[in-house]
Amino acid sequence: MINPEDFLEFIKNRRSIRSFQDKLIPDDEIQMILEAGRWTPSASNKQPWEFYIIRDKEILKEISNNAIYGRHIKKAPLAIAIVGKKKISPNYYIQDTSLVSMTMMLMAWSLGIGTCWTGTLNRKNVKELLGLAENDYLLTVLPMGYIKGNIPKPSLRATLDQIIKEI
Ligand SMILES: Cc1cc2nc3c(=O)[nH]c(=O)nc-3n(C[C@H](O)[C@H](O)[C@H](O)COP(=O)(O)O)c2cc1C
Repeated sequence: MINPEDFLEFIKNRRSIRSFQDKLIPDDEIQMILEAGRWTPSASNKQPWEFYIIRDKEILKEISNNAIYGRHIKKAPLAIAIVGKKKISPNYYIQDTSLVSMTMMLMAWSLGIGTCWTGTLNRKNVKELLGLAENDYLLTVLPMGYIKGNIPKPSLRATLDQIIKEI
């Protein structure tokens, strides 16, 4: 088991990374990130997801151009698109794939690999670009790469007092 204090620190220290070194991520590390995704819990264990590994520079550039706050994507050596399969789990594909994104981000962070959730995607355009089917839900694209420069300072979080309601 992981030491809980260390684990909490690990969670607190993860940052969204938008600046990447021009260095390839080895396959065994990519594999670990994908494995973390594969072992994510899902409703009724339906695993309604597919993971698209994107290395093609032109495609990364196109994705960048289709994300308002995604200029950094084109600088990443790799991105993983997380796709929800609506037909497999119509009620939970968003929850399940959202959990995947977090397990992948944490796994990547443990390897010294930075990621950043992309919410500002033009999903329609990027779906087309990746050749996804009508029923596929493009949750996000996670650019990944070794961190370039300093790790950003943490953005503020609300205090527990502000968000806890005792019932
Ligand atoms: C649903 C979601 C959508 C996000 N979309 C973007 C985005 O489009 N572009 C971006 O640069 N960061 C995006 N982020 C990253 C957040 O800005 C970031 O997680 C937040 O500011 C907290 O910073 P931290 O992750 O370093 O703790 C997104 C995060 C989430 C959870």
